[in-house]
Formats: sequence, structure tokens, C-alpha cells
Amino acid sequence: MKKDFISILDISRDELANLIAHARKLKEERRVGIQTPVLAHKTLGMIFEKSSTRTRISFEAGMFELGGHALFLNPKDMQLGRGEAIRDTARVMSRFVSAIMIRANRHDEVLELAAHADIPVINGLSDREHPCQILADIMTIEERLFRTEGVRVAWIGDGNNVCNSLIMSTILTGMEVVVASPPEFAPRQEIVTEAVKMGAKVRIVTDPREAATGADVVMTDTWISMGQEEEIDRRRQIFMPYQVNAELMACAKPGAIVMHCLPAHRNWEITDEVLDSKASAVWDQAENRLHAQKALLVRLLA
Ligand code: CP
Ligand code: NVA
Repeated sequence: MKKDFISILDISRDELANLIAHARKLKEERRVGIQTPVLAHKTLGMIFEKSSTRTRISFEAGMFELGGHALFLNPKDMQLGRGEAIRDTARVMSRFVSAIMIRANRHDEVLELAAHADIPVINGLSDREHPCQILADIMTIEERLFRTEGVRVAWIGDGNNVCNSLIMSTILTGMEVVVASPPEFAPRQEIVTEAVKMGAKVRIVTDPREAATGADVVMTDTWISMGQEEEIDRRRQIFMPYQVNAELMACAKPGAIVMHCLPAHRNWEITDEVLDSKASAVWDQAENRLHAQKALLVRLLA
């Protein structure tokens, strides 16, 4: 059966550990100039319904480094943008390329594409999850803290797609997450309930200091995800008390790291001071998208 990567829970605990170990190996091989063209003659079709810097570049560079090719597809330029059905797009693309990565407005679209494609489908972000980001985040946490088991992560701000994937990932990593959000922007109850049933370790609070206290990792993301731009002013006002700044970082454990999947609105959800501090793992976190996704592509395609 073909493998997809639509949710972080599409892989098991062991598969995740192997994937991260492989990502670390690929990172080291790249550093010393060893080439790994294991996906020669394979093409990844990448559909982007939303903007991207990291996801597009890391997948495109990653496929090139693996000896394959990546195709950037803007739905506006495809017949998809003129109403061709997702299922027909899935069937046709399956005849041309080896895998599809899609960044979609709605999670349903990713599921529909996967249901009708004969090739692996990767979720490059949907309104529900961002599993590729969490792979890189787990790799980064392991690099910095040398473990994930028992690591306390404070998620500060919007209970969004990235937060959902983080919560689910605790089932695989043994991390614990404390989410601090304004009540209106807490992660969706059904996602939390389902994850907890499966063994996720998560607590939802409203006070950012409560979440940050004793944290090994303080993580945040934009207050305005793609597609929510009309709410900028209202959101900015509600989320301001959730800014990750030096004062909040002082609540975390000594030596705690700070993470942000980027793009950041500097001095909104995170101050310059914190983003550019020694505690900041964000640039490694961004780089690790490349290595983690290369390992993922090999797993799905080699
Ligand atoms: N973090 C992330 O997915 O970044 P892009 O939106 O730039 O791809
Ligand atoms: N939560 C953000 C993540 C961007 C990488 C969004 O969905 O826009």
C-alpha cells in the first residue's frame, strides 16, 4: 500500500526515531560533501495554495540533493484553479510524478487528494496540521536537548495547525506540552480529546506564565495564520499578553530554548531580543526542514 504523510500520526514511534536518525545522517553527509542521489529520476509535484518560503525551498532543494526533481505548481496556473476536480488532478498527477506535496487551504483537500492518488501524498501544511514542521522541530529538540522523553514544551499563543501537530507528536516522543492560549483560540477540543485518548500529554491553560514555568522549550507561532489576515487588529490585541519576551523566558528552565516555525512577526508574538538570543533555535529549526524532509522523501519514495 502506498504511504502518505498527512498527519504526524501517520508514522509510528519507531518510524519517527528511524526517520530522525536518518535525517541526522543526511545532515552530516551533506556537511562533509557526500552526495546521496537515491531518488534519481523521481519527481515531486508540489501544489501550493498558500505562500511559502521554507517548505517550498526545502522540498525543492531536498529533491535536487537526492538526485530527483521538484515541480512547483501554483493552482492558479493549473486547471485545478479553473475547477478541475481534486480527484481528477490526483489521478493524472499519479501518472506523471512519484509523489505529491500539497499546501492546502483545507485539510479535506489533502485527504481527498490522497484518497484518489496512487502515489504518496505529503501534507505541506493545512488548516489542521503541519506535520513536516513538527519533524524538523523534533529533530531540533533532540539536537539541543539530546532527548525528547520528558521534555516540557510550552506552546504560547494560537492553538493552530502547528500546535495541533505538536500535541499529536507527544504520543510518539514522550514530550509533554502545555498550551497557553486565549480561551477563544485554544486548540480544537475534538483534536485534543482524540489525541489524549491516544496517549498525548497535553494541558491547556490560559496563562502564558503558567505554561512557561519549568519549560525546557518555549514555542510560538504567528497570531495570524495564512487566511486569517482580515482579523489582524483584533487578534493582535487579544494575543499581545502572549508575547514571548525576555520576561516570559525568565519563567522557563535555565538553558531553555525558544522555537518558532517562522515566518515571525518580530515584536508581536516574539521580541527581537528573544528571537535573536542565544536561546533561539529557530535557524537550526528552519534548516532541519531540509534534512527531515529528505529523510521523509526517502522513506516514502526510495
Ligand atoms: N514554517 C513554514 O512552513 O514556513 P513557510 O510558510 O515559509 O513554508
Ligand atoms: N500557522 C501558520 C504556519 C505558517 C508556517 C500558518 O498556518 O500560516
